[in-house]
Amino acid sequence: MSAFAPNLDKVLSIRDLRDLARRRLPRSVFEFIDGGAEDELTLAENRAAFERVRLIPRILTDVSAPDIVTDIVGTPSAAPFVVAPMGSCMLAWPEADICIARAAAAHGIPYTLSTMSTTSIERMANAVQGNLWFQLYVLKDRDFNNQLVDRAAAAGYSTLVVAVDLQAGGKRERDLRNGVSIPLRMTIRHLWEGATHPGWSWQLARNGLPDFENMRGMMGSNDANLTIAARVGESLDASFNWDGLARLRERWPGKLMIKGVLHPEDAQRLVSLGIDGIWVSNHGGRQLDGAVASADALPAIAAAIGNRVPMIIDSGVRRGVDALKARVLGASAVAVGRAALYGAAAGGEKGARLALQILIEELRLAMKLAGTPSFYNAPETLVLSQTTRAPARQQHQYPQLASTFDLAPEKRTPC
Ligand SMILES: Cc1cc2nc3c(=O)[nH]c(=O)nc-3n(C[C@H](O)[C@H](O)[C@H](O)COP(=O)(O)O)c2cc1C
Repeated sequence: MSAFAPNLDKVLSIRDLRDLARRRLPRSVFEFIDGGAEDELTLAENRAAFERVRLIPRILTDVSAPDIVTDIVGTPSAAPFVVAPMGSCMLAWPEADICIARAAAAHGIPYTLSTMSTTSIERMANAVQGNLWFQLYVLKDRDFNNQLVDRAAAAGYSTLVVAVDLQAGGKRERDLRNGVSIPLRMTIRHLWEGATHPGWSWQLARNGLPDFENMRGMMGSNDANLTIAARVGESLDASFNWDGLARLRERWPGKLMIKGVLHPEDAQRLVSLGIDGIWVSNHGGRQLDGAVASADALPAIAAAIGNRVPMIIDSGVRRGVDALKARVLGASAVAVGRAALYGAAAGGEKGARLALQILIEELRLAMKLAGTPSFYNAPETLVLSQTTRAPARQQHQYPQLASTFDLAPEKRTPC
């Protein structure tokens, strides 16, 4: 194992990647990624909700070649996974955003760049040939906001994901205790952590402190030590409402998704506004502690909107079988945040690719063992859940998509 990248040979699961990330990263950085808000009730529930869902396998179906190709908001995808937007990723690995986006492209799935990414909209578009989405936090400065939207359109991003669950930064007590703030300020504790994690420190020293490239000049006052979440919250427009969303809909020419939906009535109203997709999420338990787990919220939302628009769910996905459970509960795809970032933190692009590969292989295996040849047409009767079951879905086939993807690993040196 080198000081810079742990050996990934023995990794079997996302949990293994998390363990490697925990060992490689200074504690403050690992807890910034891994932690949640306040008592972390929602963080724990996200996982528990997926674990509560039980499947009732079918037998004697031909599952020799499970079909996981799917369509996500009108975009063909080689697997029903999307990488969720994440800010500050370069704390974990140099150019971590690009590493993860390349991993997503190699697996033929969409990648979502955050407003708070450490790679700019344009730099990402130049670095990665894949299906790129852009996640917008609505900022107080409307002109700057419009510029971000226009830049994403000009750079060829296919889908705008508007995150509506960060009206203020969540109270992340680990970050407060660890002094993870903007501007980044070195404390004695950080120096000690750096000294005891030489591989990470050397990489950071060579590549410099991460910069929020999309937000240059926009991060509010520089005089207070605020956690990253609080600093972002300071710049955001907490007055953003349904009228503002209608204006955004008019401005953005491509597909529009809303991220952070948990209430069925909100989902219904979004559909009536002409939104292209609903992203069920509680921000991975990093915002409102006590919010319902995404997997628990999903069935009621599916019942409210029927099949009118596709749904993505995130928060707590750590196994491939979670995608199958989500499908049966009404989602078209799952998004992964930490799972991909643990991979990148453990081994850059190679680690991120491995994280996605593990999830995809686990999903294929789960489909075989559940007697389900087609992800998209997985029957609702597969689930025995403590939560409400999703309503009957229309059955779709996407046979033409199967040949669209070449999943051969790219011959690029991992960054
Ligand atoms: C380190 C980190 C940074 C994040 N930054 C953002 C962000 O900038 N924008 C956003 O919409 N969501 C952000 N999220 C939330 C993710 O998009 C996603 O909703 C969440 O990670 C899903 O839960 P999971 O990590 O359990 O998969 C972040 C999550 C993490 C772990």
